[in-house]
Amino acid sequence: MKTLAIETSCDETGASVVEKKNNQPFVQIHSNIIATSLGLHAKTGGIIPEAAAREQSKYIIPVIKESLFVAKTTPEAIDAIAVTIGPGLIGSLLIGVETAKTLAFAWNKPIIPVNHLFGHIYANWISSCHPALIKCHSRLDPESTKEDSDFHQNDKRISFPALGLIVSGGHTDLILIKNHGNIQWLGGTKDDAAGEAFDKIGRMIGFPYPSGSMIEERAKKGNPKTYNFPRPMIYSHTADFSFSGLKAAVFREIKTIEQLNSETIDNICASVQQAIIDVLVKKTLDAAREYNVKSILLGGGVAANQTLVESLKLNAIRYNLNAEIFVPQKSLCTDNGAMIGAAAFYMGKPTSWKNIQANPELYFD
Ligand code: KG4
Ligand code: ZN
Repeated sequence: MKTLAIETSCDETGASVVEKKNNQPFVQIHSNIIATSLGLHAKTGGIIPEAAAREQSKYIIPVIKESLFVAKTTPEAIDAIAVTIGPGLIGSLLIGVETAKTLAFAWNKPIIPVNHLFGHIYANWISSCHPALIKCHSRLDPESTKEDSDFHQNDKRISFPALGLIVSGGHTDLILIKNHGNIQWLGGTKDDAAGEAFDKIGRMIGFPYPSGSMIEERAKKGNPKTYNFPRPMIYSHTADFSFSGLKAAVFREIKTIEQLNSETIDNICASVQQAIIDVLVKKTLDAAREYNVKSILLGGGVAANQTLVESLKLNAIRYNLNAEIFVPQKSLCTDNGAMIGAAAFYMGKPTSWKNIQANPELYFD
């Protein structure tokens, strides 16, 4: 089955052609095109929903055309259209959903509604692919063309039950995946998401939006023990998180510093990152032990953080856990169409375009 998958829940415009053959355990990418408006949001220090949606309305058709072109396919050869219906920004979601509905009607194809959060987890079911298949739309945004330098060589099978940690700019959730489509939400953030904490703290120290990867870079030069920032809810014995207190603590600390020089910034970055990682790792491993899972699946932009991944792997050994840890290729951690196509194969329900509606409040049900 070959699917055209569309993702426009936040600031990216993604379209991808993915295929799942019956005898293959993983999804194959034929194309994965992403037009980003991050340059615009970097100037405003965050996403302005109206501005994001306007950019997406310009990009959506060229991105879809490019994804079919790169995949060397045509609408006739597509079996279904998958689209993110929520959660997300309503203006952005509508661009993808209404385009998908129009194409489904015009091409007479079924449509598969996908929850964006499941997409992040199902990025783990995408087969190793050549980095060139994952790129920004070069003609639309030549500055941002990027390729993934680290791509997995080996596909290992994912066993159930699995624990999913979704860590993105808008979400921090732990879910128990008993099987495809059989998912139990264990807990999530009470306030800011982990990525949001990276972004808001980055803004305080003058980094452009989004700041997660820059904080990770600067943290490499800093000492994580310089500032003892709070690890909110780390001992709460629940799968819930809270990061707004950390943000406030960093704000207070910065106010006491006379001059933010390069070394101080490196140390703040290292200490903040360590605080976030300590909480994410402890909660994840506690849940993995409690539910005796066989796999741990990371997803979302923050999963691109190598320090987080290394810490999780190291501590899983200390916990004596027998679970395999999976992390998507770096460029599949952040928003993209392929992950939506992957979720559609495993847990999507094809239907008529008439039944599809964007739902910004969609969560786990
Ligand atoms: O999944 P995503 O693309 O968008 C949402 O669905 O929200 O995640 C974007 C988030 C941003 O907050 C960004 O700062 C964070 O992922 N991020 C990182 C890293 N790369 C992206 N956070 C920490 N370390 C990174 N290397
Ligand atoms: Zn996302």
